[in-house]
Amino acid sequence: MSQIKTANVKFDKNGAPFSADFDDIYFDNTLGCQQSEQVFIKANNIEQAWLNFNASEFVIAETGFGTGLNFFLTLEKFIAFKRCNQSAIKLHFISTEKYPLTLQDMRKALKLWPQFHLFSEQLLAQYDIAANTQQTYTFADAAVSLTIHFRDASAAFSAIEVPDKGLVDAFYLDGFAPSRNPEMWSKALFTQLARLAKKGASLGTFTVAGFVRRGLSEVGFKVNKIHYGNDGNDAEKTESTQARFIGLRRGKPITGFKVREKVESSKHATIVGGGLASACAALALANKGINVTLLCKDEQIAQGASSNAIGALFPLLHQDKDSLSLFYQQGFEHSLALFKQLIKQGYQFSHGFDGLIDVSYKAALVQRQQTFCQKNVWPDDLIHGISKEQVNDISGIDVDHPGLYMPRAGWVCPPELVQAIIQAAIATGKVKVKTNRKVLAVKSLANNRWLLTTNKGQKQIQNLIFCTGADSLAIDSLAQLPLSVVRGQVSQMQSNDRIENLKTVLCHKGYLTPENNGVHCIGATFDKDDNDTRLRDEDDQYNINMLASCLGDIGNWSMADVRASKARLRCCTPDHLPMVGRVPKIEKHQEYYQHLSKDKNWHYKQPAPLNNGLYVLTGLGARGLCSAPLLAEILAAEICNDDYPVDEEMLFNLSPNRFVIRDLIKSKS
Ligand SMILES: Cc1cc2nc3c(=O)[nH]c(=O)nc-3n(C[C@H](O)[C@H](O)[C@H](O)COP(=O)(O)OP(=O)(O)OC[C@H]3O[C@@H](n4cnc5c(N)ncnc54)[C@H](O)[C@@H]3O)c2cc1C
Ligand SMILES: C[S@@+](CC[C@H](N)C(=O)[O-])C[C@H]1O[C@@H](n2cnc3c(N)ncnc32)[C@H](O)[C@@H]1O
Repeated sequence: MSQIKTANVKFDKNGAPFSADFDDIYFDNTLGCQQSEQVFIKANNIEQAWLNFNASEFVIAETGFGTGLNFFLTLEKFIAFKRCNQSAIKLHFISTEKYPLTLQDMRKALKLWPQFHLFSEQLLAQYDIAANTQQTYTFADAAVSLTIHFRDASAAFSAIEVPDKGLVDAFYLDGFAPSRNPEMWSKALFTQLARLAKKGASLGTFTVAGFVRRGLSEVGFKVNKIHYGNDGNDAEKTESTQARFIGLRRGKPITGFKVREKVESSKHATIVGGGLASACAALALANKGINVTLLCKDEQIAQGASSNAIGALFPLLHQDKDSLSLFYQQGFEHSLALFKQLIKQGYQFSHGFDGLIDVSYKAALVQRQQTFCQKNVWPDDLIHGISKEQVNDISGIDVDHPGLYMPRAGWVCPPELVQAIIQAAIATGKVKVKTNRKVLAVKSLANNRWLLTTNKGQKQIQNLIFCTGADSLAIDSLAQLPLSVVRGQVSQMQSNDRIENLKTVLCHKGYLTPENNGVHCIGATFDKDDNDTRLRDEDDQYNINMLASCLGDIGNWSMADVRASKARLRCCTPDHLPMVGRVPKIEKHQEYYQHLSKDKNWHYKQPAPLNNGLYVLTGLGARGLCSAPLLAEILAAEICNDDYPVDEEMLFNLSPNRFVIRDLIKSKS
């Protein structure tokens, strides 16, 4: 149509388009598709979002279609995703373009991406910017539709009808740099994004401009800056923005003891640990640009609870969406995403994500399964009930009981996983691991620093993080936290004809894992306040008997089949949720919030009195695999003053100060 102004494009010697009007590039051609992939696809965690998606059509909205690079990349990924996952979902990609390229320029620009030739030819065959202000094209047997609105982004978005639940699952905010194109990056645009967004919608954009980040926050997006490793390539972008739509909070302001005040900014943190919690913390901090020193008392990392041969990876889910289940649901998704990403990056650790069945082996559990299915509060791809025939079919062996099936759960080898995470952390160039370093004492100094005494000397430290598992009970600075130790012994059983075909983890009172290195793990014992890690024959016998009493003679095992065993200590909390954050000043809590004993709803303005620079991430209990990555993200957000990846209620449920607050409320005077 006549009012469409086409782009004034110049091409450089490599054939890359450049906007003469905006004096800006369309994409960074030095890095191929890498940057678009990082800033839009990875920042939106788009493949994981498709995996988790449980409606029929996933909607992406983009500003600035340009040459369509973001679209073609997404299309390619979506087709691969559908092929791998036999998924039935469809994709609707809504884009906007105020200054479209002419057909001729488009054809020239798309020559840069021969890998998308088939798709780009399809688009070019119908691309007709004069014909309409809006065009829809379909791809991949109509599984994907692309609608381009040839007009200003906010005007185009404002004309789209939005259902009550919102429309868009993910946003790609492209467009030239805000400084060169302030007209597009407007309050009107941000308002439209919030209008279109579904709750939880994600957003990725290349810009980290303050007014864009603030503008997004003001309309209800939780905004995060992402830092990338820079392999010494100066052209590479090292920061971008990622956001999630949470909506605007209405209602009363949050009470003081739930508020974690901002921290002094810093570039370094020292982690005390060597297990899963510390590995995840090191990686999360390094990814946010923090330099990390990790001190581990043992000769090698992963010698504590994280040294078990096999651990089951699955969320603890109840029939209702209580706070415990919601945390483990979110934690599970984080863990799975991190572990799959590590595998994709080439890090190796033994694992199997072929599902887990919680076997309903007695009447009470069959009843529980029925109620679970009636209530049906969780997505099917997280958990659903299956018949005994399906259990036999899916597990690969004759279990002969129905069960609750978690198709994406599985098992990993924790010590190998810890090694892989540490390798990934070291590869950022920001993490140093020092073994044989035992932290002996910690003292608070007047200058907001901590004096750390180890077996190798003393050092002043700004940020000190204890990821010390069950050893946390021996650390003076953590003495006021209600942590306890629960000993557990796992037995490794020789595989045999009867059990070798087991494909999924089976849970009963304990668990049984598929074969790895010729053995299956069974366990585990559960002895409160017992911190003796020497092996006990009677515990192996207990594990064999427990399995037999729940699932019968499924492995045909006796003590002669025990190949190895391991006893380690779980670090537990009274409410079975872990803790992450700054260590609270307990006496100050008791002083500030004493009125809670008279009125538990009393509203306080006074923010929580916390020890600045002193953090704890522990209490992972029997679920570290499903919680450590998310907890590490929370810790890193706190240290970097970024937005937390969980809401305020969940943050308080994970706060080390929740226990003193609950004690005050209980101590009614
Ligand atoms: C028998 C058993 C079975 C389990 N099964 C599962 C399962 O199936 N699925 C699951 O998700 N989870 C399972 N868990 C739980 C899981 O293993 C833990 O939640 C997780 O490994 C805890 O990791 P962490 O880093 O907190 O602790 P740890 O792995 O214990 O690490 C603590 C680290 O701190 C170091 N350290 C301590 N004190 C000091 C000091 N003063 N100076 C320097 N370094 C210090 C130690 O050397 C150690 O490396 C199981 C645990 C046990 C014991
Ligand atoms: C950096 S380029 C986008 C690159 C594009 N995603 C690609 O793959 O080629 C920015 C695009 O935003 C478009 N644009 C600029 N202002 C706009 C506005 N107000 N509304 C919609 N699109 C706009 C430009 O014409 C340009 O095509």
